[in-house]
Amino acid sequence: MPHVGPVALFDSGVGGLSVMRHVRELLPFEDLLYYGDNGYCPYGNRPESQVRQRVFSIAAFLLAQGAKMLVLACNTASIAALDDLRAGYPEVPIVGMEPAVKPAARATRNGRIGVLATTVTLHGDRFEKLLQQYAQNVRVFSQPGYGLVERVEAGQVQAAETAIWLRELLSPLIEAGIDTLVLGSTHYAFLRPLIEQVMGPQVTVIDTGLPVARQTRRVLEKSGLGNTGRQPGQELFYTSGEAPLLEAIYGRLWGQPVSLRRQPD
Ligand code: DGL
Repeated sequence: MPHVGPVALFDSGVGGLSVMRHVRELLPFEDLLYYGDNGYCPYGNRPESQVRQRVFSIAAFLLAQGAKMLVLACNTASIAALDDLRAGYPEVPIVGMEPAVKPAARATRNGRIGVLATTVTLHGDRFEKLLQQYAQNVRVFSQPGYGLVERVEAGQVQAAETAIWLRELLSPLIEAGIDTLVLGSTHYAFLRPLIEQVMGPQVTVIDTGLPVARQTRRVLEKSGLGNTGRQPGQELFYTSGEAPLLEAIYGRLWGQPVSLRRQPD
């Protein structure tokens, strides 16, 4: 495999940019390729089989673009398809993600943790296994993040209506007395300031963007695929959605203007 190919990240939409910003910090010399499957967003409301199909089709596209490594910057896609994807491409290094139940179970002081994630994630076998493995001694309160992905995709990450919605959505977790909250979707990382405001200072909020970026760097180094050049890496962005309409929100969340290419499915 060429060392010069990009590290490719993908998500149902803009959520994975919250992972990619950490990857860019940790891997300044790597070219990065991002695919937002906006044409099919949100994944969280779709049958698992359809999410799996999308993951395979996007992975094939990214590998055809020369990607040397894949990062499923999406909890929902990882829960639905990570094992199958690894089995389908045993020669490709693939990093996935999962809600941070393990660190949360370690961090909690009162034994009550909340997990905010999509329904596909919360109902997935992989999530069930995570709970069995790491959450035997804590109480886990799961909350589907109804409507949150749509709000992030619409750029309403600081909107007053989003804050009102979060207050309502998170109230069962506040009532349950959790002291640790896992953000189980990459989209929610963009809502972190509002979520922290709603939950209050006594609740620790955990997001996995940085640990996944560290894992990406580790896997890249271990597989000997790191770029040895010292030129700043470039970024290339693809979407299956309406590129011109989406450029503004991509640019806003990425922190600089983005030229988005449409890749029809
Ligand atoms: N950003 C995704 C996740 O991590 C997917 C959200 C969705 O499309 O429903 O779960």
